[in-house]
Amino acid sequence: MAKIKIKSAEEIEIMKEAGLILGEILSQVAHAVKPGVTTEDLDSLAEKLILQKECQPVFKGYRGYKHATCISVNEEVVHGIPGQRSLKEGDIIGLDIGLKLKGFCSDTAMTVAVGKVSKKAAKLLRIGKAALKAGIKQARAGNHLGDVSAAIEKIAEDNGYSVVRDLYGHGIGRDLHEDPLIPNFGFKGEGLELKPGMVLAIEPMLNIGGSKIETLSDGWTVVTADRELSCHFEHSVLVSEEGPEILTKRVN
Ligand code: MF3
Ligand code: CO
Ligand code: CO
Repeated sequence: MAKIKIKSAEEIEIMKEAGLILGEILSQVAHAVKPGVTTEDLDSLAEKLILQKECQPVFKGYRGYKHATCISVNEEVVHGIPGQRSLKEGDIIGLDIGLKLKGFCSDTAMTVAVGKVSKKAAKLLRIGKAALKAGIKQARAGNHLGDVSAAIEKIAEDNGYSVVRDLYGHGIGRDLHEDPLIPNFGFKGEGLELKPGMVLAIEPMLNIGGSKIETLSDGWTVVTADRELSCHFEHSVLVSEEGPEILTKRVN
């Protein structure tokens, strides 16, 4: 059985503080998204904001990763490496940011439109966001992990999309990735029972086409095998006595 770390009240306070800071940072970075901006520009902005808050960019150094963010454009699903690529009107761009504060991690992501995008892309973003929301709603004590997974899968598949099956959400705390793994597909009532004090990074990845993915030769960038569009939304969520609490809320 996976070892799930139940966070103490003190640890939860720190994780709340970390999440609040991170949510605000992602909002600021998302506001800087416009045609002509490079993914590197967005990464530098994110890193500057993280350091300003006296936090550490937790992705940097993680398994040799060299940046503060992962930025994934269009058919890129996750783990896109920031670089010289400049954004074009009509692109969709996944921004995934993490930080560490006083020894605790926070992780959040969203996919946003660059200027005006196609109806097809706009719908994908709307449904991706709804899938995350539906998953979070199930993250309450007494429910099972399968309730979260099934809720996400249902929204995706009801809309004709597929969910990525080879990458998962995860517990989060002192480590960026802790147990349990959180698949974006599954069955209601199955899997681990959720308990107060668990913190989960729930992160649906939805594809317009098939669920198959590939990793590019840079060793990081994950793309859809059919090169159709993909989106990614993620929040760090506390399972509390009162229900799910999103720690990484956007401020605007
Ligand atoms: N943020 C990713 C996740 O949601 C992990 C990124 S690992 C990195 O789990 F090394 F690429 F930064
Ligand atoms: Co993430
Ligand atoms: Co994550």
